[in-house]
Amino acid sequence: MLHDTTIAFIGGGNMAAAMIQGLLTAGCAPARIRVSEPDPQRRETLTHRYPVTIMAENQAVVPNAQAVVIAVKPGKVDGVLHTIAPVLAPDTLILSIAAGVSLAQLQRALPPNQPVIRVMPNTPALIGAGISALLPMPTLSLEQRHLARQIMAVTGDVVEVEDESWLDGITALSGSGPAYLFLVAEALSDGGVACGLPRALADRLAVKTLIGSARLIDETGQHPAVLKNQVTSPGGTTIAALAQLETAGVRGAFMAAVRAAWIRSRELSAGQ
Ligand SMILES: NC(=O)c1ccc[n+]([C@@H]2O[C@H](COP(=O)([O-])OP(=O)(O)OC[C@H]3O[C@@H](n4cnc5c(N)ncnc54)[C@H](OP(=O)(O)O)[C@@H]3O)[C@@H](O)[C@H]2O)c1
Repeated sequence: MLHDTTIAFIGGGNMAAAMIQGLLTAGCAPARIRVSEPDPQRRETLTHRYPVTIMAENQAVVPNAQAVVIAVKPGKVDGVLHTIAPVLAPDTLILSIAAGVSLAQLQRALPPNQPVIRVMPNTPALIGAGISALLPMPTLSLEQRHLARQIMAVTGDVVEVEDESWLDGITALSGSGPAYLFLVAEALSDGGVACGLPRALADRLAVKTLIGSARLIDETGQHPAVLKNQVTSPGGTTIAALAQLETAGVRGAFMAAVRAAWIRSRELSAGQ
Protein backbone atom coordinates (compact mmCIF):
# COMPACT_ATOMS: atom_id res chain seq x y z
CA MET A 1 0.00 0.00 0.00
CA LEU A 2 2.76 2.41 1.04
CA HIS A 3 4.70 1.83 -2.19
CA ASP A 4 1.72 2.96 -4.29
CA THR A 5 1.17 6.11 -2.23
CA THR A 6 2.22 9.62 -3.14
CA ILE A 7 3.11 11.55 0.01
CA ALA A 8 3.57 15.32 0.22
CA PHE A 9 5.34 17.06 3.09
CA ILE A 10 4.55 20.64 3.97
CA GLY A 11 7.70 21.82 5.71
CA GLY A 12 11.06 20.12 5.20
CA GLY A 13 12.51 20.38 8.74
CA ASN A 14 13.93 17.74 11.08
CA MET A 15 10.84 15.61 11.50
CA ALA A 16 10.00 15.67 7.79
CA ALA A 17 13.59 14.63 7.02
CA ALA A 18 13.33 11.72 9.47
CA MET A 19 10.15 10.55 7.78
CA ILE A 20 11.54 10.97 4.25
CA GLN A 21 14.63 8.98 5.20
CA GLY A 22 12.43 6.26 6.69
CA LEU A 23 10.18 6.12 3.62
CA LEU A 24 13.14 5.82 1.26
CA THR A 25 14.73 3.12 3.43
CA ALA A 26 11.40 1.28 3.40
CA GLY A 27 11.63 1.20 -0.40
CA CYS A 28 9.21 3.99 -1.35
CA ALA A 29 9.93 5.41 -4.80
CA PRO A 30 11.57 8.86 -4.55
CA ALA A 31 9.24 10.05 -7.33
CA ARG A 32 6.31 9.48 -4.97
CA ILE A 33 7.67 11.81 -2.27
CA ARG A 34 7.32 15.59 -2.54
CA VAL A 35 8.33 18.31 -0.13
CA SER A 36 7.54 22.00 0.02
CA GLU A 37 9.99 24.17 1.93
CA PRO A 38 10.16 27.98 1.79
CA ASP A 39 13.81 28.33 2.84
CA PRO A 40 16.12 28.11 -0.25
CA GLN A 41 19.10 26.98 1.80
CA ARG A 42 17.11 24.19 3.42
CA ARG A 43 15.79 23.20 -0.03
CA GLU A 44 19.36 22.89 -1.23
CA THR A 45 20.33 20.75 1.76
CA LEU A 46 17.35 18.46 1.18
CA THR A 47 18.11 18.21 -2.55
CA HIS A 48 21.65 17.04 -1.77
CA ARG A 49 20.39 14.49 0.74
CA TYR A 50 17.28 12.99 -0.85
CA PRO A 51 16.38 12.26 -4.49
CA VAL A 52 12.79 13.42 -3.93
CA THR A 53 10.85 16.34 -5.45
CA ILE A 54 11.48 19.54 -3.50
CA MET A 55 9.53 22.71 -4.25
CA ALA A 56 9.00 26.16 -2.78
CA GLU A 57 5.20 26.34 -3.04
CA ASN A 58 2.93 24.38 -0.71
CA GLN A 59 0.12 24.20 -3.28
CA ALA A 60 2.47 22.67 -5.87
CA VAL A 61 3.19 19.45 -3.91
CA VAL A 62 -0.38 18.58 -2.92
CA PRO A 63 -2.21 17.60 -6.16
CA ASN A 64 -2.60 13.80 -6.55
CA ALA A 65 -1.02 13.09 -3.15
CA GLN A 66 -2.85 10.41 -1.15
CA ALA A 67 -1.37 11.75 2.09
CA VAL A 68 -0.12 15.19 3.12
CA VAL A 69 2.08 15.49 6.19
CA ILE A 70 1.89 18.85 7.95
CA ALA A 71 5.40 19.22 9.39
CA VAL A 72 5.63 22.94 10.19
CA LYS A 73 5.78 24.56 13.63
CA PRO A 74 2.40 24.67 15.36
CA GLY A 75 1.95 28.43 14.89
CA LYS A 76 2.12 28.03 11.11
CA VAL A 77 -0.38 25.19 10.74
CA ASP A 78 -3.52 27.29 10.26
CA GLY A 79 -1.98 29.40 7.49
CA VAL A 80 -0.58 26.35 5.72
CA LEU A 81 -3.92 24.50 5.81
CA HIS A 82 -5.78 27.50 4.40
CA THR A 83 -3.26 27.65 1.55
CA ILE A 84 -3.55 23.99 0.57
CA ALA A 85 -7.29 23.53 1.24
CA PRO A 86 -8.39 24.65 -2.27
CA VAL A 87 -6.14 22.08 -4.01
CA LEU A 88 -6.85 19.06 -1.77
CA ALA A 89 -8.77 16.07 -3.14
CA PRO A 90 -11.66 15.14 -0.80
CA ASP A 91 -10.02 11.83 0.16
CA THR A 92 -6.46 13.09 0.71
CA LEU A 93 -5.36 12.08 4.20
CA ILE A 94 -3.90 14.90 6.30
CA LEU A 95 -1.38 13.83 8.96
CA SER A 96 -0.48 16.64 11.32
CA ILE A 97 2.60 16.17 13.51
CA ALA A 98 2.29 19.69 14.98
CA ALA A 99 2.35 19.56 18.78
CA GLY A 100 -0.71 20.98 20.54
CA VAL A 101 -2.83 21.60 17.42
CA SER A 102 -6.17 19.87 18.07
CA LEU A 103 -8.21 17.80 15.63
CA ALA A 104 -10.96 20.45 15.85
CA GLN A 105 -8.49 23.21 14.96
CA LEU A 106 -7.22 21.18 11.99
CA GLN A 107 -10.74 20.41 10.82
CA ARG A 108 -11.79 24.07 11.07
CA ALA A 109 -9.07 25.05 8.59
CA LEU A 110 -9.87 22.24 6.12
CA PRO A 111 -12.81 21.41 3.83
CA PRO A 112 -15.63 19.58 5.66
CA ASN A 113 -15.03 15.82 6.10
CA GLN A 114 -11.38 15.99 4.99
CA PRO A 115 -9.74 12.88 6.54
CA VAL A 116 -7.40 14.01 9.33
CA ILE A 117 -5.11 12.29 11.82
CA ARG A 118 -3.05 13.88 14.58
CA VAL A 119 0.34 12.39 15.29
CA MET A 120 2.77 12.89 18.18
CA PRO A 121 6.20 11.54 17.17
CA ASN A 122 9.49 11.86 19.06
CA THR A 123 13.07 12.59 17.99
CA PRO A 124 14.43 9.01 17.99
CA ALA A 125 12.38 8.95 14.76
CA LEU A 126 15.56 10.43 13.25
CA ILE A 127 17.18 6.98 13.51
CA GLY A 128 14.03 4.90 13.02
CA ALA A 129 13.69 4.28 16.76
CA GLY A 130 10.85 6.67 17.55
CA ILE A 131 7.39 6.07 18.89
CA SER A 132 4.41 7.89 17.41
CA ALA A 133 0.96 8.17 18.91
CA LEU A 134 -1.81 8.43 16.32
CA LEU A 135 -5.17 10.06 17.01
CA PRO A 136 -7.51 9.55 14.03
CA MET A 137 -10.68 11.60 13.60
CA PRO A 138 -13.48 9.21 14.61
CA THR A 139 -14.85 8.81 11.06
CA LEU A 140 -11.50 7.91 9.49
CA SER A 141 -11.75 4.71 7.42
CA LEU A 142 -9.84 1.57 8.39
CA GLU A 143 -7.86 1.87 5.17
CA GLN A 144 -6.74 5.42 6.00
CA ARG A 145 -5.85 4.44 9.58
CA HIS A 146 -3.77 1.64 8.10
CA LEU A 147 -2.05 4.05 5.69
CA ALA A 148 -1.22 6.46 8.54
CA ARG A 149 0.20 3.58 10.62
CA GLN A 150 2.34 2.45 7.68
CA ILE A 151 3.68 5.96 7.08
CA MET A 152 4.62 6.52 10.72
CA ALA A 153 5.99 2.98 11.14
CA VAL A 154 8.96 3.98 8.96
CA THR A 155 10.14 6.10 11.93
CA GLY A 156 9.66 3.41 14.60
CA ASP A 157 6.87 2.06 16.78
CA VAL A 158 3.26 3.24 16.46
CA VAL A 159 0.34 3.32 18.92
CA GLU A 160 -3.19 4.43 18.12
CA VAL A 161 -5.26 6.27 20.73
CA GLU A 162 -8.90 7.38 20.74
CA ASP A 163 -8.91 9.99 23.50
CA GLU A 164 -7.52 13.38 22.45
CA SER A 165 -6.98 14.43 26.08
CA TRP A 166 -4.22 11.78 26.26
CA LEU A 167 -2.13 13.66 23.71
CA ASP A 168 -0.83 16.08 26.36
CA GLY A 169 0.29 13.16 28.54
CA ILE A 170 1.89 11.49 25.52
CA THR A 171 3.69 14.74 24.67
CA ALA A 172 4.93 14.89 28.27
CA LEU A 173 6.12 11.26 28.34
CA SER A 174 7.40 10.20 24.90
CA GLY A 175 7.49 13.60 23.12
CA SER A 176 9.64 15.36 25.72
CA GLY A 177 11.01 12.12 27.21
CA PRO A 178 14.19 11.86 25.14
CA ALA A 179 15.46 15.03 26.86
CA TYR A 180 14.98 13.47 30.32
CA LEU A 181 17.03 10.46 29.28
CA PHE A 182 19.76 12.60 27.69
CA LEU A 183 20.05 14.23 31.10
CA VAL A 184 20.27 10.80 32.77
CA ALA A 185 22.99 9.75 30.31
CA GLU A 186 24.94 12.91 31.10
CA ALA A 187 24.51 12.48 34.87
CA LEU A 188 25.59 8.81 34.80
CA SER A 189 28.68 9.78 32.87
CA ASP A 190 29.43 12.54 35.38
CA GLY A 191 29.12 9.92 38.13
CA GLY A 192 31.67 7.74 36.34
CA VAL A 193 34.05 10.69 36.02
CA ALA A 194 33.57 11.40 39.73
CA CYS A 195 34.78 7.81 40.30
CA GLY A 196 37.92 8.54 38.27
CA LEU A 197 36.91 7.20 34.83
CA PRO A 198 38.01 9.08 31.70
CA ARG A 199 35.13 11.07 30.14
CA ALA A 200 35.05 9.18 26.83
CA LEU A 201 34.84 5.83 28.60
CA ALA A 202 32.20 7.11 31.03
CA ASP A 203 30.10 8.48 28.14
CA ARG A 204 30.22 5.15 26.33
CA LEU A 205 29.40 3.11 29.44
CA ALA A 206 26.48 5.41 30.25
CA VAL A 207 24.87 5.34 26.81
CA LYS A 208 25.34 1.60 26.26
CA THR A 209 23.89 0.93 29.71
CA LEU A 210 20.81 2.99 28.83
CA ILE A 211 20.36 1.29 25.46
CA GLY A 212 20.93 -2.21 26.84
CA SER A 213 18.59 -1.69 29.78
CA ALA A 214 15.83 -0.29 27.57
CA ARG A 215 16.18 -3.22 25.16
CA LEU A 216 16.11 -5.68 28.06
CA ILE A 217 12.77 -4.29 29.25
CA ASP A 218 11.40 -4.25 25.71
CA GLU A 219 12.63 -7.64 24.55
CA THR A 220 12.03 -9.69 27.72
CA GLY A 221 8.65 -8.08 28.40
CA GLN A 222 9.59 -8.13 32.10
CA HIS A 223 8.43 -5.31 34.36
CA PRO A 224 11.28 -2.86 35.15
CA ALA A 225 10.83 -3.56 38.87
CA VAL A 226 11.48 -7.30 38.30
CA LEU A 227 14.63 -6.57 36.28
CA LYS A 228 15.79 -4.11 38.93
CA ASN A 229 15.32 -6.71 41.68
CA GLN A 230 17.32 -9.24 39.64
CA VAL A 231 20.43 -7.01 39.68
CA THR A 232 20.09 -5.94 43.31
CA SER A 233 21.94 -8.38 45.56
CA PRO A 234 21.62 -8.11 49.36
CA GLY A 235 24.10 -5.65 50.83
CA GLY A 236 25.63 -5.03 47.40
CA THR A 237 26.65 -2.04 45.31
CA THR A 238 23.36 -1.63 43.44
CA ILE A 239 21.17 -1.41 46.53
CA ALA A 240 23.57 1.16 47.99
CA ALA A 241 23.09 3.30 44.87
CA LEU A 242 19.32 2.78 44.77
CA ALA A 243 19.00 3.82 48.41
CA GLN A 244 20.79 7.04 47.49
CA LEU A 245 18.44 7.65 44.51
CA GLU A 246 15.39 7.10 46.71
CA THR A 247 16.74 9.49 49.38
CA ALA A 248 17.24 12.09 46.65
CA GLY A 249 13.65 11.60 45.47
CA VAL A 250 14.60 10.70 41.90
CA ARG A 251 11.48 8.61 41.30
CA GLY A 252 9.21 11.45 42.46
CA ALA A 253 11.26 13.97 40.48
CA PHE A 254 10.67 12.04 37.23
CA MET A 255 6.97 11.76 37.94
CA ALA A 256 6.79 15.48 38.70
CA ALA A 257 8.76 16.28 35.55
CA VAL A 258 6.32 14.37 33.32
CA ARG A 259 3.43 16.05 35.11
CA ALA A 260 4.99 19.52 34.66
CA ALA A 261 5.37 18.85 30.93
CA TRP A 262 1.74 17.65 30.82
CA ILE A 263 0.55 20.88 32.47
CA ARG A 264 2.65 22.98 30.08
CA SER A 265 1.38 21.02 27.08
CA ARG A 266 -2.22 21.67 28.18
CA GLU A 267 -1.43 25.38 28.55
CA LEU A 268 0.13 25.49 25.08
CA SER A 269 -2.82 23.62 23.57
CA ALA A 270 -5.09 26.26 25.14
CA GLY A 271 -2.97 29.00 23.50
CA GLN A 272 -1.35 30.28 26.72
N1 LIG B 1 11.13 17.61 16.82
C1 LIG B 1 10.39 16.91 17.66
O1 LIG B 1 10.83 16.24 18.58
C2 LIG B 1 8.91 16.89 17.50
C3 LIG B 1 8.16 15.99 18.27
C4 LIG B 1 6.80 15.97 18.11
C5 LIG B 1 6.19 16.84 17.21
N2 LIG B 1 6.95 17.71 16.50
C6 LIG B 1 6.28 18.65 15.61
O2 LIG B 1 6.78 18.50 14.30
C7 LIG B 1 6.65 19.75 13.63
C8 LIG B 1 7.93 20.02 12.89
O3 LIG B 1 8.99 20.03 13.83
P1 LIG B 1 10.49 20.06 13.37
O4 LIG B 1 11.31 19.76 14.57
O5 LIG B 1 10.66 19.22 12.15
O6 LIG B 1 10.61 21.62 13.01
P2 LIG B 1 11.57 22.36 12.01
O7 LIG B 1 12.84 21.58 11.86
O8 LIG B 1 11.61 23.80 12.38
O9 LIG B 1 10.78 22.20 10.62
C9 LIG B 1 9.75 23.01 10.17
C10 LIG B 1 10.03 23.31 8.71
O10 LIG B 1 8.88 23.90 8.07
C11 LIG B 1 9.30 25.01 7.32
N3 LIG B 1 8.23 25.99 7.16
C12 LIG B 1 7.99 27.09 7.90
N4 LIG B 1 6.91 27.76 7.44
C13 LIG B 1 6.45 27.06 6.39
C14 LIG B 1 5.38 27.26 5.49
N5 LIG B 1 4.54 28.30 5.59
N6 LIG B 1 5.19 26.35 4.51
C15 LIG B 1 6.02 25.27 4.38
N7 LIG B 1 7.05 25.05 5.21
C16 LIG B 1 7.28 25.93 6.20
C17 LIG B 1 10.44 25.56 8.12
O11 LIG B 1 11.19 26.44 7.33
P3 LIG B 1 11.88 27.73 8.05
O12 LIG B 1 13.00 27.16 8.84
O13 LIG B 1 12.29 28.59 6.90
O14 LIG B 1 10.83 28.37 8.92
C18 LIG B 1 11.18 24.30 8.54
O15 LIG B 1 12.05 23.86 7.55
C19 LIG B 1 6.33 20.80 14.68
O16 LIG B 1 4.98 21.22 14.55
C20 LIG B 1 6.52 20.09 16.00
O17 LIG B 1 5.56 20.49 16.95
C21 LIG B 1 8.30 17.75 16.60
